[in-house]
Amino acid sequence: MYTLPSLNVEKQYDAIAVLTSGGDAPGMNPAIRGVVRAALRQGIRVFGINRGYSGLIADDMEEMNSSSVSNIVQRGGTILKSDRCEAFKDPAVRAQAAEILRRRGIGALVVIGGDGSLTGAHLLTQETGLDVIGLPGTIDNDIFGTDDTIGFDTAVNTALEAIDRIRDTATSHERHFLVEVMGRNSGFIAVHVGMAAGAEMVIVPERMIEVSRISQELAESRRAGTGSSGIIVVAEGPTPGLTYRLAEQLREHGQDPRVCILGHIQRGGSPTGHDRVLATCMGAMAVSYLQAGYDDIMVGVRNGRILDVPLHDVISFRKGLDPTLLDLALQIHR
Ligand code: ADP
Ligand code: F6P
Repeated sequence: MYTLPSLNVEKQYDAIAVLTSGGDAPGMNPAIRGVVRAALRQGIRVFGINRGYSGLIADDMEEMNSSSVSNIVQRGGTILKSDRCEAFKDPAVRAQAAEILRRRGIGALVVIGGDGSLTGAHLLTQETGLDVIGLPGTIDNDIFGTDDTIGFDTAVNTALEAIDRIRDTATSHERHFLVEVMGRNSGFIAVHVGMAAGAEMVIVPERMIEVSRISQELAESRRAGTGSSGIIVVAEGPTPGLTYRLAEQLREHGQDPRVCILGHIQRGGSPTGHDRVLATCMGAMAVSYLQAGYDDIMVGVRNGRILDVPLHDVISFRKGLDPTLLDLALQIHR
């Protein structure tokens, strides 16, 4: 349940545009739907830009109507497609992008994506004066200024479903499994998944553990008869796949873990009810914030309240894992 700010209409737009960028996330579709339906209700035309910033600089967009977003609330991925666009890091290209939108009479842009996409959004508005609002769309939940991001809850639940299955075979064979979850440089997914899966151990970049200590703990729990099998959730860190190296190192210490890398499975699938509601509220509020005269902000959520966060802050500060939560995740199952 969210509390939404009550905002007055101060500014009217003829047309706005929306795009999804960077790593996709379940819930991007309900967010697009929220933007489109809220805008149309206010008499604002909406253009859907294909393939993120790549589509923007190629002027690849279509006008959307209410039925463009029918039957998408339950679909994973993004109907607008997503991309990574190196060219958008060039200020001259961003100036062209703003020009393309202005030529079409589009006065504002809603960008749904992760920290990279939001960096591009901030630079675009700062340099060109175009009104831009960001929505945090990433499974990693590593965005400063918001407790939650669109897609995080679904990714956690997807990983949990997989781990529950791995647990069955781990128990039958009395084995330990290293399960690698996504989260470039951040352990949000790992900590939540580890806690909810009852993992025996969680390894995150925020608090690394020596290989010798991991091995020692596994050996001790075996000796004590409490851990003939188990799940160790590992955050991928900067390089996906490094868990294979960790398994090799553990073998050198006499352990024989199996490895399962969940990878992009976590990015797909139907968004959970939680993500659908979050995305819908954020999408609709992006339009309300624009009409209230805000720009260069991200729509976030803190303590259940939908709020505005300056994009400058979003990209300047790093969101830390709550150390108490991390302690709990690391200790509770041992
Ligand atoms: P995410 O948005 O999921 O974090 P990326 O970091 O890959 O994904 O960023 C997505 C896109 O955002 C990039 O391909 C690029 O177009 C744009 N972007 C990222 N960083 C910058 C930057 N420093 N300046 C301008 N645009 C950027
Ligand atoms: O969406 C964020 C993320 O899932 C990271 O956790 C991961 O490292 C990255 O995207 C991988 O994305 P891609 O394979 O699209 O580069």
